[in-house]
Amino acid sequence: MYSISDYGQMIADRLRMDAHVEALRRVIRPDSVVVDIGTGAGIFALIAARLGAQRVYAIEPSDAIQLARDFARINGFAHSIQFIQDRSVDVDLPEKAHVIVSDLRGVLPLFADHLASVIDARTRFLTPGGALVPQCDTVWVALVSADKLYQACVAPWQTKRFGLDLAAGQRMVLNRYRKAQIAARQLCEQPRCWAELDYRRITGPDVAASLRWTIQQDRAVHGFTVWFDSCLAEAVGFSNAPGKPELIYGHTFFPWLEPVALKQDDTVDLLLEARLVGGEYVWRWDTHVRDVHSRLRAEFKQSTFFGTPLSPARLHKQAEDFTAALNADGRVVKHALSLMAGDTPLIQIGQALRQRFPERFADHAQALDYVRQLADKYGA
Ligand SMILES: C[S@@+](CC[C@H](N)C(=O)[O-])C[C@H]1O[C@@H](n2cnc3c(N)ncnc32)[C@H](O)[C@@H]1O
Repeated sequence: MYSISDYGQMIADRLRMDAHVEALRRVIRPDSVVVDIGTGAGIFALIAARLGAQRVYAIEPSDAIQLARDFARINGFAHSIQFIQDRSVDVDLPEKAHVIVSDLRGVLPLFADHLASVIDARTRFLTPGGALVPQCDTVWVALVSADKLYQACVAPWQTKRFGLDLAAGQRMVLNRYRKAQIAARQLCEQPRCWAELDYRRITGPDVAASLRWTIQQDRAVHGFTVWFDSCLAEAVGFSNAPGKPELIYGHTFFPWLEPVALKQDDTVDLLLEARLVGGEYVWRWDTHVRDVHSRLRAEFKQSTFFGTPLSPARLHKQAEDFTAALNADGRVVKHALSLMAGDTPLIQIGQALRQRFPERFADHAQALDYVRQLADKYGA
């Protein structure tokens, strides 16, 4: 969930915005129907309307859409922008669009349901020959020398201050990637292209590819960085590469389990895989470093799956053959939802809950508050 300040920062990113405005300028015609997926505070929809689009559908599940609606009214575009508060995958539109614009990326384009949403929108909303903005993202990987960044990851778990062994925390943190700003001088060897995400053709959200470097120069390497360059429309785009002017997306740092002093003629093989599981990406990176005689110098198998604590009880509940009985909270939710199926006002549902579950709700206000949250989430 983004805050209003987050949306402000996206709008304030001049390079990002200039590139999007130029891309929209190139693809929008006076008779264009445009869909803005994830309109947020409405900026792309407003720009599309200002560029003369005949109609704009601006889709956004969060309440930020209310601000977008206000902007449309204040700027005189209320007649040309139709706002839909929902996720695009749950929306049907009355007509096909000539242009679909979105920026659902995080630090990387492989973020939450970005790819799945674009594929769905392209299939259901876009007219044949229509334009997607962005058109294509290229994802790059480079080995990095990043001692300070690495130390920042591991230092909390190596402290001797308390006389305790905290090494398990280090193993966990080294199975996560983090957002970082990498400088060009930290890159080792040439970057490799890991993926071309051509949104006009892509059919699935998962990506996996193997990369290889033959080392030219001795250097201590701590992991690798991943970033993307974007082609928004023909000859319009931007690059997030280290050394280029900073954009809001930044870079990622994927640490290795240990730093490796790479020597000339070593080879580094990296298998990097991103798989969408339950709406979130699980990243896996397997690294093999071999010397000039093909002797293994280092081998790391890492995954974000190991980067978050998971209790056995939690894991047990995920098993296919787990048979669930309702816990105390589940019983409250079930009762509340059963009352919501009719025409009972929230205040009465709150009273009924308070009466039935006095140990759960200290007073009526608490019960009503609880029912309000359920209505927000499940009510229609
Ligand atoms: C990174 S923000 C971009 C906001 C604005 N378009 C911009 O570029 O400044 C992404 C927005 O997309 C929304 N979003 C994510 N997936 C979506 C989907 N499938 N349908 C509609 N909105 C979505 C999020 O709620 C969020 O507001």
